[in-house]
Amino acid sequence: MPWLYLANTKIMATFEPRTDIDGGLAARRYAHIIGWGMAVPDTALSNDELSTFVETNDEWIFARTGIRQRYIADEGESTATLAYRAAQQALEVADILPTDLDLIVVATSTPENIFPSTASLVQDWLNAHEAGAFDLSAACSGFVYALNMAADSIRAGSIKAALVIGAETMSRILDWQDRSTCILFGDGAGAVVLQASDAPGGVLSSVLRSDGAGGDLLAIPSVGSIDANESRAGANGYKLYKMYMAGGEVFKFATRVVSESIEQTCKLAGISVKDIDLVIPHQANLRILQAASRKLGIDIRKFMSNVEHYGNTSAASIPIALCDAIEQKRIQDKNHIALVGFGGGLTWAAMVIRWGVPKPSEQHSSLLNRQRRHVQYRIAKWRSRSRRWRRRVNRKVQDMRN
Ligand code: COA
Repeated sequence: MPWLYLANTKIMATFEPRTDIDGGLAARRYAHIIGWGMAVPDTALSNDELSTFVETNDEWIFARTGIRQRYIADEGESTATLAYRAAQQALEVADILPTDLDLIVVATSTPENIFPSTASLVQDWLNAHEAGAFDLSAACSGFVYALNMAADSIRAGSIKAALVIGAETMSRILDWQDRSTCILFGDGAGAVVLQASDAPGGVLSSVLRSDGAGGDLLAIPSVGSIDANESRAGANGYKLYKMYMAGGEVFKFATRVVSESIEQTCKLAGISVKDIDLVIPHQANLRILQAASRKLGIDIRKFMSNVEHYGNTSAASIPIALCDAIEQKRIQDKNHIALVGFGGGLTWAAMVIRWGVPKPSEQHSSLLNRQRRHVQYRIAKWRSRSRRWRRRVNRKVQDMRN
């Protein structure tokens, strides 16, 4: 079946691992973003609509946060379906096949399950059967953590291509009676494809940090190794499965760590803060970005902000903002981009990327690749169903034998 062959042959032919024949130094590997994509639900919820069922108003929300609206997942949508849509777009831009992927990481605080992971679901739906998959929990810093893990694996030579996704359905864990939190968050997903290359650039440096002593400032008490029952959560002032936040404390923490971690990661990358062309921060609150820009001495116009349209989409906010920045042509080749995330844990993370998209040199035509990807998505559905069906038949045969 030639179409099956076409769909499954790896097309990512650019990078072959260097063998260190005479004991000299092997060529350095770099991890470049070569694809990006995002997805939000169809339904937008404006501040005015929100104020019909929560005691708040557009004026207050916009003045204190910069948010005008957010997207809310419909019944059929979930963290995994949003992640899958963003992933498909990212593969389209990268123009590689799902079978070229070695790793899929989904950063999320609202996973489909504890396990199977959201990443494993996406892996199955994409037919990325050569890839490992896992979810990563670092709240709103999760995307930068995940990108760092994937970039390190590429630079160490253990993998060649990774799909890194930030995806959330925050609407499912909000207390819609708590006006201090429910006005802030929204649903969505963003994804990037990271690929090995010997062209210098890509992810240059990162800083990952945590302060567990602040864990009680921002939390979603849920199923875990401790007895997470209603009365225990209630005793701590929490509601089970609902987000709790000490807004003022988190605000102070965020303004401090954004500037500190950007300075640290710039130093590691060997550049000055002034060399940053665009900061793509976690989109929590416009006032946090304004405070960070003052502290760093970077013009606020160098801070990407789209919080107005999406609210805070937690781990998804940075890749969504990256997609919008590319769409608005705010990123050029060789630009230095700083990503910075902060959130529950407490956690925070910053990264410097030198932008440049070295595409595979030995490419088939894009049209052909697109067809091959679509064949793979179809195969994925058929493969999963047939495996489940085979397991069921085997069980029945076993039962009949016993
Ligand atoms: N609508 C209208 N009024 C509101 C309101 C709402 N949604 N939420 C709170 N208020 C009221 C309060 O009751 C209070 O009234 P009072 O002065 O009569 O007591 C007043 O507004 C001020 O409340 P306060 O909580 O001090 O507001 P704030 O300026 O600190 O803003 C946040 C609150 C949540 C917007 C702000 O603390 C924040 O953005 N924190 C960081 C949150 C964040 O980014 N979290 C995610 C990190 S990943």
